[in-house]
Amino acid sequence: MGEDNQIRVILVDDIAETRENIRKILQFTAEIEVVGVARTGREAIDIAKEEKPHVVLMDINMPDMDGIKATEAIREAVPFTQVIILSVQGDVNYMRRAMLAGARDFLTKPPMVDDLISAILRAGKLAIEEEEKEATRYHAQQSELGSGRLGKFQLTYGKVIVVYSPKGGVGCTTIATNLAVALHNEETPVVIVDCNLQFGDVSVVLNERSKNSIIDLASRANELDPDIIEEVLVTHAASGIKILAAPSRPEYAEDITGEQFRKIIQYLRKLYSYIIIDTASGLTDAVLASIDASQIIILIATQDIPAINNARLFLDLADVLEIDRRTILFTMNRVDKRIPITPEAVGENLKQEVVSVIPFDERIVVPSINRGVPFIATAKTKPVAKAILSLAETVRQRVTEMAQEEIEEVQ
Ligand SMILES: Nc1ncnc2c1ncn2[C@@H]1O[C@H](COP(=O)(O)OP(=O)(O)O)[C@@H](O)[C@H]1O
Ligand SMILES: [Mg+2]
Repeated sequence: MGEDNQIRVILVDDIAETRENIRKILQFTAEIEVVGVARTGREAIDIAKEEKPHVVLMDINMPDMDGIKATEAIREAVPFTQVIILSVQGDVNYMRRAMLAGARDFLTKPPMVDDLISAILRAGKLAIEEEEKEATRYHAQQSELGSGRLGKFQLTYGKVIVVYSPKGGVGCTTIATNLAVALHNEETPVVIVDCNLQFGDVSVVLNERSKNSIIDLASRANELDPDIIEEVLVTHAASGIKILAAPSRPEYAEDITGEQFRKIIQYLRKLYSYIIIDTASGLTDAVLASIDASQIIILIATQDIPAINNARLFLDLADVLEIDRRTILFTMNRVDKRIPITPEAVGENLKQEVVSVIPFDERIVVPSINRGVPFIATAKTKPVAKAILSLAETVRQRVTEMAQEEIEEVQ
């Protein structure tokens, strides 16, 4: 990494001569450091992920992928990076598309030296500001997790934990809300996202209403920033966790695409240590996007044959989707010792160990749901709350283990 306040630049052009010319021009400006050159869109994306540049100078026509697609991918991977497009004169249509993809500025080819340098300085200044904003806002999280340019566990990002059951009514919302409170503290802030877009009840169960919901983020999924997020999330007063509520009416669910949902989740990973996603049983686009983005899946079943059969079907699907079985924390809820279907037997039968057993306790759970007060806070010493605390511990451990393995793989 270069010195402080130096603008890291990547040049992207398929013609070697153009790259060389620009590099030579930039050599004389002390604030600018060229940290990489790419010949194709794909190469540009790889290098951008690696180098996290402030500015990318992007040729628009390249053999494998056009500069617009590459711009979009880079902006998504490194949000503070500013892209300057180089194109032949008069490409108005391209310019418009490039702007929608998140390009910051345009220069016609070949650029005038002064124009080029001042455009880079402008874009660079903005990128450095954005980078600092990100850094100060998430310093706690980043210092905890170290630097990460890794795979699925991307250490600097929060962990997505999907609470899912292919059968409804088994306790997803109960577990998701209580687990969210259990995992939350100053160092590891938690947001709970209601992915039951039609009939989500997370905000009801937590007794927090607001007129804002995920609908307000969906249309802005490409231009999220911490202020927009702050505005839309609701704070659960009793615990401090954040809530991203489901739409206020079931018919609004259609307005949210899987892609938008994915982008919102990815953005939340920059702000929170744990993103707990409560789901409904159907495999909607949003649920699939959540599963795809997740580091941990908490799969819930109860002691009855339909729930267990559905869990089996889901595990089969997980194999097809090549989901690492270790990312699945198989949990049995509403467990009653008098029922002869034991968690051990279910685990053996489905070849997926049950790692968390949550007892049936109507006297604690039902009033907690109805009053909108998570029992994890009010009945800490009861077995049902202890079981959630132990699940939270398992989540933390599993995340640490797998992140550690990733570091070892990279080294
Ligand atoms: N461990 C438990 N003991 C007793 N009742 C429970 C338990 N977990 C959940 N419940 C009850 O089961 C019902 C369904 O729970 P909920 O969390 O809404 O399920 P889902 O989100 O999967 O549809 C609720 O009425 C809740 O009070
Ligand atoms: Mg639910």
